Amino acid sequence: MSKLNQRVVAITGAGSGIGRALAVESAKRGADLALSDVNEAGLKETAAQCEKAGAKVHTQIVNVAERDAVEAWCDAIVKHFGKVHVIINNAGVALNADVAHTEYEDFEWLMGINFWGVVYGTKTFLPQIRKNDWGHIVNISSLFGLLGIPNQSAYNAAKFAVRGFTESLQCEMRVSGENIGVSCVHPGGIKTNIANAARFSHSTSTRSQDADQLKKEFNEKLARTTPEQAANIILKGIENNQERVLVGMDAVALDRMQRMMPTGYRKLVAKFA
Ligand SMILES: NC(=O)c1ccc[n+]([C@@H]2O[C@H](COP(=O)([O-])OP(=O)(O)OC[C@H]3O[C@@H](n4cnc5c(N)ncnc54)[C@H](O)[C@@H]3O)[C@@H](O)[C@H]2O)c1
Repeated sequence: MSKLNQRVVAITGAGSGIGRALAVESAKRGADLALSDVNEAGLKETAAQCEKAGAKVHTQIVNVAERDAVEAWCDAIVKHFGKVHVIINNAGVALNADVAHTEYEDFEWLMGINFWGVVYGTKTFLPQIRKNDWGHIVNISSLFGLLGIPNQSAYNAAKFAVRGFTESLQCEMRVSGENIGVSCVHPGGIKTNIANAARFSHSTSTRSQDADQLKKEFNEKLARTTPEQAANIILKGIENNQERVLVGMDAVALDRMQRMMPTGYRKLVAKFA
């Protein structure tokens, strides 16, 4: 029986991609779901799929970049289910722009969701998770939380920050000896809506036809793992209390490359960029 059976699992960004697949695969493992997203239609569709798989589902529109909204969501979950065992801080966005052309506003937008969203989710849910005999916190970083890539400075910064934040929490949980697992997840390319929803720099170096080409290349060539495969790897990571979860062969291979050549890998990245 899965560790998730009869547990309450909260997931941000559950209206699409990895978040939706995590919700449905958790439902199949017997979990009840607290799902949030900014996309109402996507959230409804995920909820319907989870209910079909037998789960009790609570949904709420939550912008993870707003601390008050995350706190109100956690209160609503505890009111509805009486407890929450797992938080999966999954909501995220992408931005493609070189440093010179990344607007400060875009930096702040991305950090608000990809970094602060994870901090709000972790800090808000931790006291509730501590009330149970077991719990787990999952923060979704990226392969780009392990190595730097051109035109990804904001995304790289947020995902490296998520990794640092999460690895510090992992140490704290080891010191305190609490029965709370903490996983930092590093997916490679996953077939989701992330590239289609991404922002692109307004510079002449990324014209709209280039943006379309980049989206096409990501969707057709780089995104090789399905959201369902990703979700099953992540949920196994929870069940096995895995601190670092690599998702996809690309993540496994490039993580190895980064560790073998901690500075030299950038020559290869530049060559293939
Ligand atoms: N797809 C990939 O290749 C890939 C690789 C590495 C990491 N990731 C990470 O996985 C996570 C999930 O992304 P995905 O690939 O499923 O993308 P996706 O675009 O399919 O889903 C992201 C979801 O987050 C929601 N969202 C966006 N902004 C939000 C906000 N402010 N508050 C709440 N929800 C918000 C969107 O509405 C959407 O439903 C992200 O953190 C992403 O950075 C994805």
